[in-house]
Amino acid sequence: MVEVKKLTKEIKYSTGIFLPIINDISFSIDKKETVGLLGKIGSGKSTIALCMLRLIEPTSGEIYFEGERVDNISQRKFRKFRKEYQIIFQDSSSTLNPIYTIEEQLREVFLYYKLSDNNNVDKKIDNLLEEVGLNPSIKRKYPHEISTGEKQRVCIARVLITNPKFIVLDEISSSLDVINERKIFDLLKDIQKKRFVSYLLITHNIKLACNYCDRIMILSDKKLKFLSNNKVQEEELVKHFED
Ligand SMILES: Nc1ncnc2c1ncn2[C@@H]1O[C@H](COP(=O)(O)OP(=O)(O)OP(=O)(O)O)[C@@H](O)[C@H]1O
Ligand SMILES: [Mg+2]
Repeated sequence: MVEVKKLTKEIKYSTGIFLPIINDISFSIDKKETVGLLGKIGSGKSTIALCMLRLIEPTSGEIYFEGERVDNISQRKFRKFRKEYQIIFQDSSSTLNPIYTIEEQLREVFLYYKLSDNNNVDKKIDNLLEEVGLNPSIKRKYPHEISTGEKQRVCIARVLITNPKFIVLDEISSSLDVINERKIFDLLKDIQKKRFVSYLLITHNIKLACNYCDRIMILSDKKLKFLSNNKVQEEELVKHFED
């Protein structure tokens, strides 16, 4: 479904030298799979995700979506993949625009991708909000009028509009309490079963990764230093994380 081969991203520092922030990263993610990407702060987790979705350009390496190489095509050609390969960020407050209602922000996505005529959109927005566990009446509110957990659900609804096959979840629960975190991930699991979506779950939370991931990778010193083939127990993961 998604394959990354020998991905490297270098940054040019003010002294003129180039140094890698991620180096020679290879992994793949299957359909309907949740793969965890763990690593300490600043270890390069988001850089991997941003390169995969061409939000920044990798220095070298190859990226494949369903067997098609996507790192060497133009941004214009890449647009057709954009719909199906999505990302949700940690900070839902900065993802949502404070001056538009939830409804306006969801409608904008339908229009941008020409997914529906204006009459059908109303019903689709209500269905999506229900799918993510929100009362559709929330659509008339502005982002500052809803809770952080509700905002994160709106962000999930927004990426679901295009019916993606793959979603990067980049620290999406770090501003939520434990109860809301569990609810959000249970919701994401339900969505996965129904819509056959794959996730790359980026986190520093070992417990969360063990609970929700089919496989786990640990990033350290700019490289993947651990890559499991199946579920990992918390104690084992702590050992690898601290090594
Ligand atoms: N454009 C850039 N210029 C210089 N350094 C950068 C740039 N982008 C990222 N870095 C550095 O590369 C490293 C990896 O950053 P990245 O954001 O990928 O880490 P992360 O694992 O996602 O961290 P966090 O857990 O804090 O989200 C950091 O040390 C960061 O400061
Ligand atoms: Mg990050």
